[in-house]
Amino acid sequence: MLKFKLSKVTSTQDFAEAISSMLYEDFLVIAEEQTKARGRYKRAWYSPKGGLWFTYVKKNFNAEEIPVATLKASLAVRESLSSFFDAKIRWPNDVVVNDKKVSGILIEAIYAGDATDLFIGVGINTNVKEFPPDIKATSILLETGKEVNNDELLNNVISKMDYYLTLKEDFEEIVGKINNYLSIKDKKVVITRKDETKVECTALFVDKFGRLVTDCGIFEVEDVLRVESK
Ligand code: BTN
Repeated sequence: MLKFKLSKVTSTQDFAEAISSMLYEDFLVIAEEQTKARGRYKRAWYSPKGGLWFTYVKKNFNAEEIPVATLKASLAVRESLSSFFDAKIRWPNDVVVNDKKVSGILIEAIYAGDATDLFIGVGINTNVKEFPPDIKATSILLETGKEVNNDELLNNVISKMDYYLTLKEDFEEIVGKINNYLSIKDKKVVITRKDETKVECTALFVDKFGRLVTDCGIFEVEDVLRVESK
């Protein structure tokens, strides 16, 4: 597969989106450092040297499969990280250990006629030594005391993503797998809506439409900015 390895870039998503129309096969963009990386809803994503920051581009992706692809990407990253610790999924797209975020996934798509390019942006805090005080996150290094080989981990994540993305299971079955690893199951959480209002609920499970079911309502992925454990 084509790989673009950059030492510094604004965002691997930006770079991948800029070159995608010139390429006709799946490719990877990896950066040692990002200066303007983004998370969901354009939030900033802290990406110093040491972490694993990449965008995996799937060309000519079936647009109908995008919702299930985001869940599959989370399953793949969780599974890769489970070789280091008890990694779980915090709905919708975070991978956490002991309630602290260790990885985030951002899926974007560019539609051009029938062909859709899918940009799977993955940030994994591998060898990040410290975080600014306002960021509640951890890294593999901080949790295990060991340096991670980013190239090996990248290969592992990509092979798991390829496995899940070609799996023919439907949305409901994939949601079943997500529920097995849901970090917030039966926990009190504070949900921040897109308009920044907050509500405290007990998270129950993810339903067959991919929504979070709680004791105070059902939440769609698009309506939620953040979910935090109490
Ligand atoms: C989130 O938790 O909101 C998603 C974070 C996604 C971060 C990754 S790092 C590689 C890629 N490039 C970006 O600018 N963002 C994603």
